[in-house]
Amino acid sequence: MAGAFRAAYGTGPAGIWAAPGRVNLIGEHTDYNDGFVMPLALPHTTLVAARPRTDGVLRLRSAHPAGASAPVRGKGRTVELAVEDLRPAAVGGWAGYPAGVVWAMRQAKLPVGGADLHYDSTVPVGAGLSSSAALEVATAFALNDLYGLGLAPQSLAQLAQRAENAFVGVPCGIMDQTAAACCTQGHALFLDTRDLTRRQVPFDLAGEGLRLLVVDTRVKHELGDGAYAARRAGCERGARALGVHALRDVGYTQLPAALARLDGDPVAQRYVRHVVTENRRVQDVIEHLDAGDTRAIGPVLSAGHASLRDDFEISCAELDLAVDSALAAGALGARMTGGGFGGSAIVLVEEADAEAVGKAVTESFAAAGHTAPRIFTAVPGQGAHRVE
Ligand code: GLA
Repeated sequence: MAGAFRAAYGTGPAGIWAAPGRVNLIGEHTDYNDGFVMPLALPHTTLVAARPRTDGVLRLRSAHPAGASAPVRGKGRTVELAVEDLRPAAVGGWAGYPAGVVWAMRQAKLPVGGADLHYDSTVPVGAGLSSSAALEVATAFALNDLYGLGLAPQSLAQLAQRAENAFVGVPCGIMDQTAAACCTQGHALFLDTRDLTRRQVPFDLAGEGLRLLVVDTRVKHELGDGAYAARRAGCERGARALGVHALRDVGYTQLPAALARLDGDPVAQRYVRHVVTENRRVQDVIEHLDAGDTRAIGPVLSAGHASLRDDFEISCAELDLAVDSALAAGALGARMTGGGFGGSAIVLVEEADAEAVGKAVTESFAAAGHTAPRIFTAVPGQGAHRVE
């Protein structure tokens, strides 16, 4: 990283920072409904080497421009911007995420000026593993140190979310940025997205003879395409019709009455049912983990997938096949993870069955004529931090 930075900018960086991708164990499309989520950080990270500048110029370079999955070499890859001129939606492509963080910090009246930044990443892009949040949060951590802002990880996550909402224009919730900023090794992060209370929940699968597989279907998911915003709008419509601030306020036992009140809006009914039952599933998972019964979360994960597929309608053929073929091959539980419409699924398996389950998923994809999935084991990694 330091070498690439030097080659690009002529001198060495002041430091190197890292932020991870994530998978979400349970709690999908609950974060913008003030609900509960439970992500864990992946070992895959986005690295940024950085140095401050005194002239208000922001220079951005990536080993993977335009989301290319392999490093692209060549001249003319540096995006150069004046921090003064940053305006929402004015910077397209990958550079919009880090530029948005600088913009969000300046909007918050934080003393942030220019910088030279060079990125590299092992977080798969478009795989539903939060490569955007990793990019934003790595940038936020770097600027926090370079400009001595002294902000806590959660505050940096909120600035990163603001960058994505208001600068890039994606109406995401707070889960991914908080995961990238606040996860800790060996834990899943329980987050209440209403008051941002967090709890690190021990998640040592290897110690229990279990594994969490990630199946990247290679179907590129794109949050900005309107379907995500439509789900969010549908949830807000449901909340308004029910007279609550957010769907978080509809308790599980109140669900039948809520659904009856939404008679006439079948779409809102389905969205509300997903969100209310999903919040319950997060609590069920926590209870099982607290009781030391990790295997019991399997059926909860699978029920979450059915809800996302049937009620929230954000799955796709490849995700359903990954889940179904994994379960048929003996997995304890499986579900799509992240925003949906492609991306990745997670599969909880006995260590002894991991290979056979992975093989069964791969074979089912081949038989269906789908692109071969990329399958790897998720070991809960560390949240964003300074590397050097
Ligand atoms: C995306 C968003 C998150 C969250 C998930 C769905 O990853 O960025 O805020 O809404 O989708 O749970």
